[in-house]
Amino acid sequence: MSARQKLLTPPMPPASKHALPPFKALRVAKRNVVEVWTRQAYFAPFMAEKYLFRWMYVANNPDAVRHVLVSNSANYEKSKAMQRALQPLVGNGMFVSNGDTWHKQRRIAIPAFHHKRILAFADFMSEGVEAMLADWDEKPDGSVVALDEEMANVTAGVVCKAMFSETLGEKGRIVYEGFTEYQAKLTQIDYAEMLGLPSIFSAWPSLKARRAAKRIRQVIEEIVGDRWDDKQDHGDFLSSLLLTKDSETGKGLTKTEIRDEMAVIFLAGHETTANTLSWALYLISKAPETEARLVSEIKEVLEGRTATFADVNNLKFTRAVVDETLRLYPPVPVFSRTAVAADVVDGHEIKAGSNMMVSPWLMHRHRALWKNPNRFDPDRFLTKEGRPASKYAYIPFGVGPRTCLGASFALTEAVILLASIVQKFSLTMPTGKDVAPVARLSLRPHPELPMVLKKREKS
Ligand code: HEM
Repeated sequence: MSARQKLLTPPMPPASKHALPPFKALRVAKRNVVEVWTRQAYFAPFMAEKYLFRWMYVANNPDAVRHVLVSNSANYEKSKAMQRALQPLVGNGMFVSNGDTWHKQRRIAIPAFHHKRILAFADFMSEGVEAMLADWDEKPDGSVVALDEEMANVTAGVVCKAMFSETLGEKGRIVYEGFTEYQAKLTQIDYAEMLGLPSIFSAWPSLKARRAAKRIRQVIEEIVGDRWDDKQDHGDFLSSLLLTKDSETGKGLTKTEIRDEMAVIFLAGHETTANTLSWALYLISKAPETEARLVSEIKEVLEGRTATFADVNNLKFTRAVVDETLRLYPPVPVFSRTAVAADVVDGHEIKAGSNMMVSPWLMHRHRALWKNPNRFDPDRFLTKEGRPASKYAYIPFGVGPRTCLGASFALTEAVILLASIVQKFSLTMPTGKDVAPVARLSLRPHPELPMVLKKREKS
């Protein structure tokens, strides 16, 4: 950052001075998880609150995060609320399963995310963004695009290609629209679960959402069925899941298990990256000095080409912008776990069955950990001193055994797409429009993200 540069403070919900009454807090959390935190949450090391019959804790310092997500992670299982919300879509797939089932799924899925596969997937990323930019190129300067939708379309296309080696055409549309419909109804907060009430009081996914999930499962099932006897490795996620045998039992996954894992990959693998790109382009549009530095790096590295895998390591400032975007707007702003047995975290007694939360949103904006935590300052990721010493302070992909399997995929995609877009276009929000972060299943710009396109001069 140059000495004179004024750092941008991008939007965040106002934090209330005092804790909201428990029922109001739950109502607000259901609408927007990141709106519920008080001012104290941004410097407290640990928080505890009782909601009717159940305790809720927030591990809010690096040591507590390490304890919950790494050292004693076996004691903190994915919550029943999360399972209920996603079960119609992903069954008992890896994102929501626990224990031995999860261990087996993870062992079998790991080879699908091997570096050499990501290298091949990067071509789909370059092709995907090139097609979108060709489409934008046809539009006159001043045209407005729905950037959030554009980013969701391009990342959905990329992940579909990585999953099945094809974009799926009409079937892809059914999957993509079904997911959008399903997710619109979802939230991580389940009143009954938080209050410790029996599951009969819980919110189950609506009939409309379950129908959307069924349509998606049918499409995926059909493709898995068609490829079931195919022993050739097509280099995609599906081949890897079909061909990999569990190193411990020698057995592979069943058709249903593969269908569920493919649904997990689609669910986990497109909206998160789409949101990262939407936020990054939003932040750049508000920070002209950052934009100028970015354009200069990209011009020098790409010289007019679309970015490829080989460019990623040379786009250091672009990567810092992505890292800083993931700090300010982590797509998964809260991880919710259930304590299986009683425990002690940071000197606090944890009751068995209670709710344990870790919030990247809070850790990334914690006053004890970051300098100017609410400012957009990509430079902090260019030096070691710019960020906290503990790796548990920066956790957009989680940490420990359940850490995101797709982190390399996502970071490669974010850098390739961001560099290719910024090289060709400057984006600005129409006058009078702005967004706010709203988190349900993932953290997105609300209500929508219209952007005015302007082609950059070639020089
Ligand atoms: C910027 C983009 C992304 C972010 C921020 C993100 C973040 C996360 C987080 C926070 C978790 C859960 C960690 C936990 O609960 O402890 C997760 C899990 C997962 N993610 Fe990602 N993710 C992204 C992109 C992707 C992509 C592109 C894929 C696949 C292509 C993917 C696949 C998965 C899978 C399979 C899991 C489940 C891992 C398990 O439970 O063992 N993610 N991700």
